[in-house]
Amino acid sequence: MFASPMKIINIDDCRVNDLLGLVISFGGNSPYGCACRSLRYRSFSHTIPCMIITIDGPAGSGKSTTARKLAARLDIAYLDTGAMYRGVAYEVLRQNVDTGDPEALLEVARGVDISLDCGPMKTTVRIAGQDVSDAIRSMKVSKATSAIASIQPIRDLLVSRQKNIGVELGSFVTEGRDQGSVVFPDADVKFVLDATPDRRARRRLEDLRVAGQEAQLDEVLAHFKYRDSIDEHQWEPLLKPGAAIRVDTTDMTLDEVVDELERQVRVRSAKSQPTLK
Ligand code: DC
Repeated sequence: MFASPMKIINIDDCRVNDLLGLVISFGGNSPYGCACRSLRYRSFSHTIPCMIITIDGPAGSGKSTTARKLAARLDIAYLDTGAMYRGVAYEVLRQNVDTGDPEALLEVARGVDISLDCGPMKTTVRIAGQDVSDAIRSMKVSKATSAIASIQPIRDLLVSRQKNIGVELGSFVTEGRDQGSVVFPDADVKFVLDATPDRRARRRLEDLRVAGQEAQLDEVLAHFKYRDSIDEHQWEPLLKPGAAIRVDTTDMTLDEVVDELERQVRVRSAKSQPTLK
């Protein structure tokens, strides 16, 4: 049962614009626990068979923008799992919960009512109906998120939600740290994006400036180094030969990265099944 009736639309009806209405929500007072409860569209592409594509790697490697653009090109959904961790951290800060109290943090994670728009244009994130899409990207929330994402019971909860969301989404591009290794180990195509720390920090600084937030290069660089030390074990299994396709984006433009990923997906989809036309 879903709070809003789930609409599984005909494959010929599903366009990128339809995906703008692809909203998932979970937590809060939902009687459905961690299940998605307001998915309105299941996403299928016209040009590739049903596929799960994972993109993992460190902060600032270009994962989010690449994943969203790739999803738009393939006409499928985009799942921003970092936004889920950020949403929990935002709520922890809003409720002034002690970040040293794992039980209390888990309670917040269980109860927070988050909805994500999985359309490929922008991840609109709402908590209890309020748009927090920009607020969850602040440095303050980023720092709290790293601490919260290292608490295993919170990871278990969000991983379980991500798996459920995946079942509902159909074809999608998902992006995070552990998507190809832990959450969707059977994904059809797995990528790891990377770039030098300096390049990554400059990109994030630019994103923050565009969002009207002040930060210094040294501060972002130090924060990334701290986060890498916590996060990197999550995508390490994907660096083994044959586990994922590694793309170093240091000297690539965004379009070049998206072109390369799209090319790799289409090569693999052509090998796996006949395309849906
Ligand atoms: O991708 P991002 O910068 O929005 O991620 C925010 C934080 O959440 C970052 O500290 C890493 C963490 N994260 C995680 O541990 N696992 C994921 N699947 C996604 C994000």
